[in-house]
Amino acid sequence: MNLKKILWEALEKSFRHLGYDTDDVTLAFSNKGDEVDYQCNSAFMIAKKVHSSPEVVATAIISNLVQDIADVSFAKPGFINFKIKNEILSKVLNEANSNERLNLEKVDKPITVIMDYGGANVAKELHIGHLRSPIIGESFARLYKLLGNNVITDTHLGDWGLQMGLTIAQLQDDGYVDGYFDSNKQNRQITLDTLNEEYPKASKRKNEDAEFKLKAETYTKYIQTHKEPYWSIYEYIRNISVEKIKENYEKLNCYFDLWYGESTSDKYIDTVIKMFIDKGLTREYQGALVVDVANENENIPIPKKNPDDPQLYKNPMPPVYLKKSNGADVYDTTDIATIYQRNLEFNPDKIMYFVDKRQNIHFEHCFRAVKMAGISPENQILQFVGYGTINGKDGKPFKTRSGDTIKLEDVINLIQKSASNKLESNGIVGNDDLALKIGVAALKFGDLLNDPNKDYVFDLDKFISFEGKTGPYIQYTGARINSLLKKAEIDDKINFYENLNLIDITDKNQRAIAINFLKLQESYMQAYKTSSISQICASLFDFASSYSKFYNDTRILTEKDDKLRNSYIALSYFVLKVIKQASFVLAFDIPEKM
Ligand code: ARG
Repeated sequence: MNLKKILWEALEKSFRHLGYDTDDVTLAFSNKGDEVDYQCNSAFMIAKKVHSSPEVVATAIISNLVQDIADVSFAKPGFINFKIKNEILSKVLNEANSNERLNLEKVDKPITVIMDYGGANVAKELHIGHLRSPIIGESFARLYKLLGNNVITDTHLGDWGLQMGLTIAQLQDDGYVDGYFDSNKQNRQITLDTLNEEYPKASKRKNEDAEFKLKAETYTKYIQTHKEPYWSIYEYIRNISVEKIKENYEKLNCYFDLWYGESTSDKYIDTVIKMFIDKGLTREYQGALVVDVANENENIPIPKKNPDDPQLYKNPMPPVYLKKSNGADVYDTTDIATIYQRNLEFNPDKIMYFVDKRQNIHFEHCFRAVKMAGISPENQILQFVGYGTINGKDGKPFKTRSGDTIKLEDVINLIQKSASNKLESNGIVGNDDLALKIGVAALKFGDLLNDPNKDYVFDLDKFISFEGKTGPYIQYTGARINSLLKKAEIDDKINFYENLNLIDITDKNQRAIAINFLKLQESYMQAYKTSSISQICASLFDFASSYSKFYNDTRILTEKDDKLRNSYIALSYFVLKVIKQASFVLAFDIPEKM
């Protein structure tokens, strides 16, 4: 039973009867307190069109309304208010309680979508800048799945760039890979710690030592052409990195269907470059191969003061680089070839990228280029969901105390430690798994509550709190229901609570739960349309709060009246399922107790 649809159709009928334009029907949840659930504000607009007063129009609409799910009232100067009847709310909840999807509607036209997130770089350690991509991406993957779409997730490892050449050059200089070059010599053991030391060293060195940089570039080119022994060293360090990357993503509840990387698209690079050349889209620029993608209103030349000055542009949109002057592939090329590969393998309707918003030009580049070359069909949607920076309380990017970029693993440890302290103060000691679960929920909720494109402040104390708009609060609400149900020994009676239409909404607190449930259900589709999960978080919080109010005000287990008691328990059981559905999307767990 879709309440909004029923009311909407009744409004349309009434409008038609009165000769009003049905396009003017509006209906939305009301924020006018517990006496109004939905509100229609159409009378204001129609009154203008028909030269009447909103009051006259609203009253006419009301007297022609045929529906029996809500009490309708007029409010000055022209509002139409709906209060859903208790028995209807009970029916909606009982219906939802009896099926696994909780009656969540699916999208009309399911699509196949590839989601590109994670994006860890091989050899470089994951840092805080990599935190948002898996958090936001995983939630969208789950949301899209929940709504009935076919979702393929790909982590798109950064495994084809200069960092590989840099690391190998440094390993060579430090004698780690001698055995690869000379069979009379020995290799030194390379661990993840080695890589964590060697790459930063090399990265710093490249800015000071031109010769070293050139060597690293050459090695990168060697890897990209599978030249030995560079290729074998590359494969070796790639594997070491990937193991660690997997471990960190799993801690964050992120799982990928594909562990492809930039390197995976290598075999298509020549093909796609040829497509650009055949279409006459390329030109040579200082030894590199580029494609111009600027639109007419971009790259507007700024008049030079002196004829010898370099030409500067307003709205600059630089060309796409397909090949560097030394012949190496670039980030643009691998992403373009990856789109080609994805279309070959999966033919998706849509590809979504969850990447730092500072990469927007890169994606704009790739998207324009693949459309020009016909690599991406015209009706395929390519969407870049750029995310903002995680800041410290000083408003600057969050750093360690010594001012270094903080490693992703350290962020996880930090929040796990903080959760563990919190648990200790509640008398739960030494439960690392639980602390991790709570920490992850804190991290995710703290992030997803914001629009992805906005920066936010990493406020550990706030995120980890068991009260307020936090992940742990949601978990706490769920855990509380878990123990309630345990006491009620519901385990073997689940069918009973699911199928007997036991929920009977009778008071304000229960109504609030029901209405907040409807709002939460609507928030999924909103998130789907707006590409921001934040509405789900806000609605989930309201939903959980309304249950807490009910829980605090009601004697649930000690209720003497069997019918009431069963209704309370069935409602609690239902609320837990709703919380679990939402936390599935947000990708954190609801613990048994905390
Ligand atoms: N590895 C990249 C980075 O660390 C992110 C990859 C994003 N995905 C993509 N298809 N380019 O910046």
